Amino acid sequence: MHNSSRWGLGVMLQFLLLAALGIAHLQAKIRLSEAYLNAISADDAAEQASGSYNYDQQGRDWEGLCQDGQQQSPIPLTYNEAIVTGIPRIHFYNYDQNLESPLVLTNNGHTANMVLPPTQNGQRAYINGGLLPGSFEAQSVHFHWGSANSKGSEHSINFQRYDVEMHIVHKNIRYAHQTVAEASAYWDGLAVLGVMFRAVDRAFSQNTGLLRIFNRLPLIIPYQANTTVAGRLTAGQLLGNIITGEFYSYNGSLTTPDCAESVTWTVFKDVAELPRRQIMKLWNLQESRMRPLINNYRALQDINDRPIYYRALQ
Ligand SMILES: *[C@@H]1O[C@H](CO)[C@@H](O)[C@H](O)[C@H]1NC(C)=O
Ligand SMILES: *[C@@H]1O[C@H](CO)[C@@H](O)[C@H](O)[C@H]1NC(C)=O
Ligand SMILES: [Zn+2]
Repeated sequence: MHNSSRWGLGVMLQFLLLAALGIAHLQAKIRLSEAYLNAISADDAAEQASGSYNYDQQGRDWEGLCQDGQQQSPIPLTYNEAIVTGIPRIHFYNYDQNLESPLVLTNNGHTANMVLPPTQNGQRAYINGGLLPGSFEAQSVHFHWGSANSKGSEHSINFQRYDVEMHIVHKNIRYAHQTVAEASAYWDGLAVLGVMFRAVDRAFSQNTGLLRIFNRLPLIIPYQANTTVAGRLTAGQLLGNIITGEFYSYNGSLTTPDCAESVTWTVFKDVAELPRRQIMKLWNLQESRMRPLINNYRALQDINDRPIYYRALQ
């Protein structure tokens, strides 16, 4: 009895050792392209340049354009006040192609952020159609969320706020040789896709791409921590199986300082489901002051007579 349990311990230790070596081996094998690392650095630099803002007052204390701008985001989206009209659907290109792997997931103190590399065929995932003034390439994805007792989407739809809002940030191919920060100086520089998530106890269908990302969240709890999401992932997997034919579109801004008014927004009406226990992982992240990074959404902004369009299924 005694001997056999000792033997069991020995085998277990050996197994753990092999497992540790295996992980070390995997880590060592991960190679990120120089272009991808440069894109991550540029994204970090832009984040640093935007200053040391926080969400203590949901952005009401942010200055400059965030204070004075007339085309700010997020806004309340309501069907009754929208111009319901014939709009082309959003066309997705290379959204079904595997991205160059692995992806780096970073806690930048304001959100969980992933810079998106090109796909394995060397092209970028991109979109056009809708009310987009051109074609826009996918650059990064991040999330806004609430807390155990509040919902954290940025836009509201028909007076309802959702648990989480995902933003896929795209840059106009007109500015292919400029950074996202540089493109944000132009009214047609950026296009953001907004996707709402509802916390559910039991998801009807699992978005495996998103789950693989969320499963890495416990590894980026401290401010500025990063990890890799290995394996094959497509930009399309972020969207899961939401209906993309119904959406709101309007001209607005970045929802973080400097709140540049450079974004054509497309916010899908369909709401994706995400298990509550996955969403809870977001609430554990920490911001730069080592406090919980929760409620990282900006307060609703004035519409100021801007037209808001709605595409219905045709
Ligand atoms: C990830 O974090 C480590 C440790 O802080 C850092 O050395 C590395 O540059 C980061 N990697 C990326 C891709 O940002
Ligand atoms: C956004 O602004 C541009 C330039 O003023 C305008 O041409 C375009 O129609 C606007 N788009 C939307 C969705 O309001
Ligand atoms: Zn955002």
